[in-house]
Amino acid sequence: MSFPPEFMWGAATSAYQVEGAVAEDGRAPSIWDTFTAEDGGESGAVACDHYHRWPADADLMAGLGMNAYRFSLAWPRIVPRGTGPVNPAGLDHYDRMIDGLLERGITPVPTLYHWDLPQALQDRGGWTSRATADAFAAYTDVCLDAFGDRVRTWLTVNEPWVVSVLGYRLGLHAPGERDLRTSVHVAHHLLLAHGLAMGRIRERRPEARAGIPLSLFPSYPATDADTAASWASDGYTNRWFLDPVLRGEYPADMAALFEELVGPLDFVRPGDLDLIGTRPDLIGVNYYTRRRIAAAPHDGLPWRVLPAEDGVPVTESGWEDVPEAFHDLLVRLHRDYGIPLLITENGGVWNAGPDAGGRVRDTGRTLALRRHLLAMSRAMDAGANVLGYTHWSLLDNLEWAEGYAQRFGLIHVDRSTQERRVKDSGHYYARVIAAGEVVEIEGDE
Ligand code: FCB
Repeated sequence: MSFPPEFMWGAATSAYQVEGAVAEDGRAPSIWDTFTAEDGGESGAVACDHYHRWPADADLMAGLGMNAYRFSLAWPRIVPRGTGPVNPAGLDHYDRMIDGLLERGITPVPTLYHWDLPQALQDRGGWTSRATADAFAAYTDVCLDAFGDRVRTWLTVNEPWVVSVLGYRLGLHAPGERDLRTSVHVAHHLLLAHGLAMGRIRERRPEARAGIPLSLFPSYPATDADTAASWASDGYTNRWFLDPVLRGEYPADMAALFEELVGPLDFVRPGDLDLIGTRPDLIGVNYYTRRRIAAAPHDGLPWRVLPAEDGVPVTESGWEDVPEAFHDLLVRLHRDYGIPLLITENGGVWNAGPDAGGRVRDTGRTLALRRHLLAMSRAMDAGANVLGYTHWSLLDNLEWAEGYAQRFGLIHVDRSTQERRVKDSGHYYARVIAAGEVVEIEGDE
């Protein structure tokens, strides 16, 4: 199948993972600066130095034929204290970058929030405070006024499930808390922030399209006896976010489960679900892997996620590499929610580095890319309205708490010299984009 000519082809990054320059031009610290300093992990202080090197990176994208770039705007650069004064140097940076992308024929697709909450807001409660959702709406206004003349596709809050669960239940991400009730509370405020931002976008930029990028994990029961547990796990990762955004209600089965586990969800106020249910134009689909589920209580929840199944291919970080689950997810989203989809993230860890001749043979990524694009194209044949695909990631970058050891890039980044090298997967992707169809892998590509 050929892809439509207006299909968006690109790659994705986020500010803290690639920019570096954390103390430059008036940027204030974010919760990720604090978290990486406290847990002694690698930080985004330098990252890929994309803050300075974006013009060369944009040249690389254009050279590969990409026509879209998903990146994130750093709230701590634009409104450094979270609320209050706007930092003109922060706006100037993204102003230049957006212009530079457009000059190269690349559509800018900014995410308003990709996890780098201004530390000043964290000091006032962060996402446990409703006021943070209001602060996000005000920051959204600033971005709409500054860039809305050129940006036609907006993404709001990246992966509220990951923020609320890894950041507030499992303690793995900033700010490192571990409490289920807080996690559900924070998820609500993140959804509220999304809903408020949707309202601002509708009001100030009615011509723009917008949506929320969700981390979606299709659940599969390990055996028939695990079917109900698998549906609950789906409720936890997927429906808890899809249903309020697209139907204006929390799924009743999950609301009952959470009330049983953590008490009344009394932080949901009248009118909140109407705001959250402001119909978006698209859902951003971040798909990496599936979850295999067994009905066995684990870590305070009534199911367990099983390790990779024997015989199923895995990435170098151990995630099951299952393109069929991607196909099924896209078809299901189309069937259950009837909403256009933008694939805002898809990819995996393959750590190949340059060989003696400087070539990066990341064969695993190339194969996975081709198989996921085929799965996507079959889902489109089955009716899913997919608007575009931005691969995670453009560059090897800071994989949050995992540091720099996990390489997701189509482009290799040498950590000591910052030298960029397009990997074999990047060259393969360029051939797909040029052909407008999922071409065969050539020779030893
Ligand atoms: C997603 C994040 C993204 C990146 C990928 C691998 O959960 O949105 O920033 O870290 O995972």
